[in-house]
Amino acid sequence: MKSKNKNFQSLKSHSLSGIAKIPGDKSISHRSLIIGSLSIGISEISGLLESEDVLATKKALSNLGVNITKSNKGIWKINGVGLNGFKSPENYLNLENSGTGVRLLMGATMGSNITVSFKGDPSLSSRPMKRIIEPLGLMGAKFDSFNHETLPLTLIGPNEVLTLDYKTSVSSAQIKSAILLAGLFASGNTKVTEPFKSRDHTESMLKQFGANISSIHSKDGENIVTIEGRPYLKGKEVIIPSDPSSAAFPIIAALITPGSKISIDNVMINPQRFGLIETLMEMGANLKIKNKKKLGNEIVATIEAEYSILNGIEIPKERAPSMIDEYPILCVASANARGITTMSGISELRVKETDRIQVMANGLRKAGIEVNENYDFLKIKGGEVMGGCSISSKMDHRIAMSFIILGLTSKKPIQVNDCETISTSFPNFVSLMNSLGSKIIESKK
Ligand code: S3P
Repeated sequence: MKSKNKNFQSLKSHSLSGIAKIPGDKSISHRSLIIGSLSIGISEISGLLESEDVLATKKALSNLGVNITKSNKGIWKINGVGLNGFKSPENYLNLENSGTGVRLLMGATMGSNITVSFKGDPSLSSRPMKRIIEPLGLMGAKFDSFNHETLPLTLIGPNEVLTLDYKTSVSSAQIKSAILLAGLFASGNTKVTEPFKSRDHTESMLKQFGANISSIHSKDGENIVTIEGRPYLKGKEVIIPSDPSSAAFPIIAALITPGSKISIDNVMINPQRFGLIETLMEMGANLKIKNKKKLGNEIVATIEAEYSILNGIEIPKERAPSMIDEYPILCVASANARGITTMSGISELRVKETDRIQVMANGLRKAGIEVNENYDFLKIKGGEVMGGCSISSKMDHRIAMSFIILGLTSKKPIQVNDCETISTSFPNFVSLMNSLGSKIIESKK
């Protein structure tokens, strides 16, 4: 059942210590359910993130006629229906808060010649969908929607999916993945070009399941991915590593809380998800990456984080796709650093679960930190975090968790309201943080 009206008070904490076990990666969890469903035969998924976002994708796939069950050992079993086997759902597919779920499913349902209506919660209903409607329209889909910009909308799948050669102006794994998944159904090659490489989990998982897919870098750094249509996808075993975007919260908590030392095993260190660690190391963080090994399709490692004096830096805009979800928590590290941290090329943050530039800037100011922002830029001057304020997460899980971590170093407690969406990505966040030694208590508004 969904949690309602969760508010927390976060208090200055003594050192954090221990081993943190971080749940499975959200991006890979969505993809394992979707790609397993499009394959022939059984796929078995271990380490699936059982958060609200991922369970919304699972429910949508069940409504498309896929049989997905969980064994008592915690392994999820998908009985794939093949590339063209989805059934028309009777009702709207409600993807709740999940941008990844809805955008990837739009691509994935293109091949079944069915009509599918999608909706979401108020946050998802305000996020841009034109970026998906446009390429999928070129591949033959018709859309019925209020404004061709946002949910709710209905996708009318074509009789035949057309190939596409498409250049996106933003580096977005969600756009790229929607097109690549739709490209599975076309007769011939579909190509997507993005300015900088975004996370490549769709590419590697499709390859694992049997698709012919390749990517190259152009001279000016663009990433060009080509997929051959109509492959034979066969069910596989998927092992999901710990989510580096969730690991970011205890890592930064340890870096900014004096005396702390924590360690996290099996964190995915895919280069397209490694931007935050690179940035923190440049800021002077005492981070150790140990025991690198392959787990499923990905390389994982143990990350040790120890309290560090951090220094502000300028983060290059090319790095944004590899740390796009980590800017809110990086803002917290920057508030605790010496000097100024500058983040540029981050306009995509304005169209996440909320406008993350504006909400982080306003909240940091309330907590006593100097911030400067414009459309695609944020500048934070580290200093004493005063706290003694109350901040709404605006129903954004990463904003909620970031301000809760800010409270660990603030002079007076920080009250963070509307935290129920934490369960979209990291359901045990508060209990895990408190087991490491933080003082986060549930409170009234
Ligand atoms: C995701 C891609 C990113 C990220 C999101 C998950 C994915 O979005 O912000 O949380 O799983 O593909 P964009 O690709 O739109 O930047």
